[in-house]
Amino acid sequence: MGRLEGKVAIITGAAGGIGRATAVLFAREGCKLALADVTPEELNETGNLVAQAGGQAMVRRTDVSMEDEVKALIEAALAAYGQVDILCNNAGVVGQLVGPEDQDAEDWRRVYEVNVLGAVYAVKHLAAHLIQRRSGAIVNTASVAGIRSGAGGNSYSASKAALINFTQTTACDLGQYNVRVNAVCPGLIETGMTKPVFDYARAKDKLWKVGHRCELRRYGRPEEVAAAILFLASDEAGYITGQALPVDGGNTASLNLPGMKF
Ligand SMILES: NC(=O)c1ccc[n+]([C@@H]2O[C@H](COP(=O)([O-])OP(=O)(O)OC[C@H]3O[C@@H](n4cnc5c(N)ncnc54)[C@H](O)[C@@H]3O)[C@@H](O)[C@H]2O)c1
Repeated sequence: MGRLEGKVAIITGAAGGIGRATAVLFAREGCKLALADVTPEELNETGNLVAQAGGQAMVRRTDVSMEDEVKALIEAALAAYGQVDILCNNAGVVGQLVGPEDQDAEDWRRVYEVNVLGAVYAVKHLAAHLIQRRSGAIVNTASVAGIRSGAGGNSYSASKAALINFTQTTACDLGQYNVRVNAVCPGLIETGMTKPVFDYARAKDKLWKVGHRCELRRYGRPEEVAAAILFLASDEAGYITGQALPVDGGNTASLNLPGMKF
């Protein structure tokens, strides 16, 4: 028996990186999938990988910042499978990396629309179904950037802090219906989102430096975040709700003060 046997999951941002790794892992664990992203070709490729893993997935181009598209995604998943047990709000964008005086309201709006409102819309339109079934698990992909500074621009960090808080408030709203809501907070993971960091480091022959300040002295892999998402989505985490779990090689556990390490 797979750990998600008989369950159905919606995963947004499933065209690559953490979302794709989560889709493939969920499929291996017996979960049926509804996969969403704004990049159809890469999304189809995830669908192919799921099929190769012996799974079943419907893919649907969805911009999570558009409420009507999110609503349609949820309706399509319910029409295809008759139920949804798990929602992974994973789609995300990075904002500008600029100083305080150069911040752009349009950047803040866009980052919030995808990283925060995308999750809000999905919860809004799936909540009635989960409440009616008295069962469900929601896992939001936040970030260590939402816990401490230094891991992203201001708009991105604030959006992830908002997502962590939305995780907590939603967990309180839905706990009485046996619907659990948690977040993962990845540290530095090699994906499309962080490609410029890795490309730059490789070009300068400094890949060893990337992630070096983590306690585990390395960057992470999408599969390592997917494993945490699987745990939180599964019945094994049946008494865990409202939590934001760092998956960051110990990064947020340490102040990492310069000069204090040898
Ligand atoms: N890679 C890291 O180091 C890291 C660290 C912390 C948190 N995260 C978070 O992990 C999540 C997944 O990112 P990733 O690292 O796998 O990068 P990624 O770029 O591979 O994945 C993000 C996905 O979100 C999709 N997306 C963007 N805007 C969208 C929209 N409006 N509607 C639907 N889909 C949209 C992208 O097309 C992409 O496929 C994001 O929420 C990101 O903020 C990543």
